Amino acid sequence: MNESYLLIEESKQLKGVLKVSGAKNAALPLMAATILTEEPCIIRNVPNLLDIKHMIELLTDMGKKIHQDKNTLYIEGPIKNKETREDIVRRMRASVLVMGPLIAKYKSGKVSMPGGCSIGARPIDQHLKAAKRMGVDIEIEQGFINLKASILNPIDFTFDVITVTGTENVLCMLSTIEEESILRNVAIEPEVINLVEALKQMGVDINIDEENRVATIKGSKYLKGFDIEVIPDRIEAGTFMVLAVATNSSVKIENVNVYHLKSIVDNLKLAGANVDILSKDSVLVSSKNSVINPLNIETSEYPGFPTDMQAQFMSLLSVAKGESSIVENIFENRFQHAQELARMGACITIHSKTAFVKGVERLKGAEVFSTDLRASAGLVIAGLMAEGKSIIRNIYHLDRGYDHIEQKLEKIGAKIKRVNA
Ligand code: EPU
Repeated sequence: MNESYLLIEESKQLKGVLKVSGAKNAALPLMAATILTEEPCIIRNVPNLLDIKHMIELLTDMGKKIHQDKNTLYIEGPIKNKETREDIVRRMRASVLVMGPLIAKYKSGKVSMPGGCSIGARPIDQHLKAAKRMGVDIEIEQGFINLKASILNPIDFTFDVITVTGTENVLCMLSTIEEESILRNVAIEPEVINLVEALKQMGVDINIDEENRVATIKGSKYLKGFDIEVIPDRIEAGTFMVLAVATNSSVKIENVNVYHLKSIVDNLKLAGANVDILSKDSVLVSSKNSVINPLNIETSEYPGFPTDMQAQFMSLLSVAKGESSIVENIFENRFQHAQELARMGACITIHSKTAFVKGVERLKGAEVFSTDLRASAGLVIAGLMAEGKSIIRNIYHLDRGYDHIEQKLEKIGAKIKRVNA
């Protein structure tokens, strides 16, 4: 095995400050939205991640001029090539986000069909259904989606399922249509709202009634550039919060948006943690005593408990005093980390979409394999909690979504090292 891995030793009572980076899942749709205009766009607080590099590569290949200065991206110019490279789409499903902007700006495009991934089949039928309704001809051929329209029509469309990138794609698709469109059952994740802010700056009139999940959009034929800050990554923040409790530490977490963390804070408090909201952008998390209470968690769309935090909580609950249940309602195959945690001594049984986690006294270090991005984060937490040494392999998953996590954690005293084999 000739790949980097993480070597982790039990690390307790960490102390210090962790700074959260910008949200990958907000930065990616903002980057794709630059296709809507040739004017310069500025995106600030962009995290330094593999997925961001892939999106830069994809947009550059399509003709965009991109300049990166630390965490700021300057993107401008027209698209010359309306086809997405298949190898990049294979590496990053979020490439599908260029579809909406291509339709809106150029009324045509050829986008490689994203396949499923380890957490589920992940269809994009809702993105395509809305496009068809607008008058886009769609042909699926040799793994590519060919899109072509002579005119784009406004729509009144209800999503059959709540989809984050689906909502983002369709909002972009409608952004050049001057007549009013209505979207119902939309996703209202903070990352979607970040994109809406950029679209508004571009000249799109959008109103989102979050309570009823209804978006009203009036586009503009000519869209301007934008200058926007990526929101703090609520999943990185949540990962650090769980990690603080799991390691019996006291950690201040900065650069967060506390309004985006409610369900995570509520559950950590139920588990017995102290969470002090210090300001609108910082929290102090510590464990009251070393006892973790069991929880009953169900993942759901925002503002519910995020599926992207499920693996991290599973690690924490594996040493709770009693039995917890975790219902995964979003992705059908997102419990693969359970078998890796079992190698570390966790006691987890899975029945359909529910995992029952019976708390054990301690986890024991082991060699484990990441199966997806958030599973890797869960394994890092487990490794820090476990007695002895752990090795985490397949950490390219982790690099897709966490900006230098081992460097951040080392600074607060964690024994974690990247080994380049
Ligand atoms: N779905 C459909 N049809 C569609 C679209 C979605 O049936 O056309 C289903 C999916 O199969 C899934 C559910 O709807 O069961 C929700 O999927 P959604 O489309 O919301 O997921 P996504 O947009 O592909 C984003 C994040 C994920 C995060 C989910 C849920 C990005 C780039 N990705 O994915 O992030 O888990 O929303 O919140 O925004 C991660 O960061 O690790 C990650 C996987």
